[in-house]
Amino acid sequence: MVNPIDATTTAAWGKIGEIRDRLSVDFRNWFAQDPQRAEKLTFTAADLYVDLSKSYLTDELKAALLELAQEVNLAERREAMFNGEKINVTEGRSVLHTALRRPKGEELILDGKNVIDDVHEVLDRIYAFADRVRSGEWRGVTGKPIKTIVNIGIGGSDLGPVMAYEALKPYVDPNLECRFISNIDPTDLGETLKGVDPETVLFIIASKTFTTLETLTNARQARAWFLAQLAKAHISADGAVAKHFVAVSTNLAKVAEFGIDPENAFGFWSWVGGRYSVDSAVGTVLAIAIGPQAFKNFLGGFHALDTHFRTAPAERNIPLLMGLLNVFYVNFLGAATHAVLPYAQFLHRFPAYLQQLTMESNGKRVRWDGSEVTAATGEVFWGEPGTNGQHAFYQLIHQGTQLIPADFIAFATPTYPLRDGENDQHELFLGNFFAQTKALAFGKTEAEVRGEGTREDIVTARIFPGNKPTTSIMAPALTPSVLGQLIALYEHITFVQGIVWGIDSFDQWGVELGKQMASQLADAVAGDADALAQQDQSTRALIEYYRNFRRDL
Ligand code: F6P
Repeated sequence: MVNPIDATTTAAWGKIGEIRDRLSVDFRNWFAQDPQRAEKLTFTAADLYVDLSKSYLTDELKAALLELAQEVNLAERREAMFNGEKINVTEGRSVLHTALRRPKGEELILDGKNVIDDVHEVLDRIYAFADRVRSGEWRGVTGKPIKTIVNIGIGGSDLGPVMAYEALKPYVDPNLECRFISNIDPTDLGETLKGVDPETVLFIIASKTFTTLETLTNARQARAWFLAQLAKAHISADGAVAKHFVAVSTNLAKVAEFGIDPENAFGFWSWVGGRYSVDSAVGTVLAIAIGPQAFKNFLGGFHALDTHFRTAPAERNIPLLMGLLNVFYVNFLGAATHAVLPYAQFLHRFPAYLQQLTMESNGKRVRWDGSEVTAATGEVFWGEPGTNGQHAFYQLIHQGTQLIPADFIAFATPTYPLRDGENDQHELFLGNFFAQTKALAFGKTEAEVRGEGTREDIVTARIFPGNKPTTSIMAPALTPSVLGQLIALYEHITFVQGIVWGIDSFDQWGVELGKQMASQLADAVAGDADALAQQDQSTRALIEYYRNFRRDL
């Protein structure tokens, strides 16, 4: 892998700094002066309609950001990713989530093998399994069909499947229900298994490494719960685990060690990062829930965006422009956070999903050659679905002192076309979507506030400064394909930012230390006096507090 380029030393970086110094954002004036602004800065890719006209892009800034992309060799790095070069330097791995959604028959040779064939071999097994579960052919130990699927995983082996399951609820087979267990807090397992019928449950143990403490602990507990339920009902446990437990992993040896028949395991590969894995075998729960055809459409959506990212000209390349804009907001305007605000209740877990995607990827302080970065990286992504967020945190975006770029997402087609008297409820809802970006951009001036006859002493409190940057993303409907497109969009935005910053967006060493320490602390937590004595004073006191106050109900 070539050495990263320090973006801050490029000519384009200097130029962008000069543009920032001269920048005086005035959306009212910008739109008045340029009647083509909305048209010029709205781009389409597959089903996505992306309006960047209420962002801080100007012709000059756009050109300079695209120059920056050139100076950091973004196009070459992008090809390196798509072609399977080992761009995950610190783990010595290729980064090929884009191969997971390439059509059958295509070729990508890695270590002498066509990985596209491997991908489709696993997909075909998953589809066949999904069909068997959905049709009722796959039966539990007492001959009953599966009704509840419980996915046990964490991080990338949980967030993607949960988010997509929630997003695609209208596509879920009404005879099936999926539940998810991720947290090692025993409450998660205890609450999730309430009311589950052991005769009709299917557990999917999803773990890339099959070594993750949380997942393996929960998997053991689930198996113990399952066997205890069978015993209680006097049902023989013979062959029961094989009928009720399947696994998803890159580590099939560990799957077998756990006691799951490799026949009932779906593999993937080390070149799929956990947070990029919802479109791999990790999506098995989703493939069962929505069915093979809808899952194929989901993958098709990803692929459509991949093709756009790889081939669309830079000046119309949506992930490229959005990623570069984010760099501008972070490095030149000091934005520390980025809101993602879906006006779609079904996307209520999308911001949480994006947190792992973006923050585990770009929360780095050294470049891929080990040198320290010289500019900020990795903003905090967060959000809630509209309109709930409007009644909670929007105040700070509208009138607070921080710059918070925000992506607004909405769909033309409602799932529930309800009317409230004369009103179409989806229109009431989307009215808010349109109003918020408008209010953020254009604000309300002092003269307008006064013109409303506002009491003089509260005029300033009622002024909206406006000029807050937003991006509006629309699509005809939230289909499996569109969801795939949205996920791929953010994957590639994350990639663009990572390349500009020169970091390895595909490792996650930062989560290791806490994990190691948790296992080292086990003896102290269990009350071993020597182990406790070795702790720092704060940790020791916290553990003692726990030991004094624990009561088992
Ligand atoms: O949080 C760290 C991490 O390694 C994530 O990157 C990953 O998605 C998660 O743990 C779960 O890992 P696994 O799928 O191997 O159980």
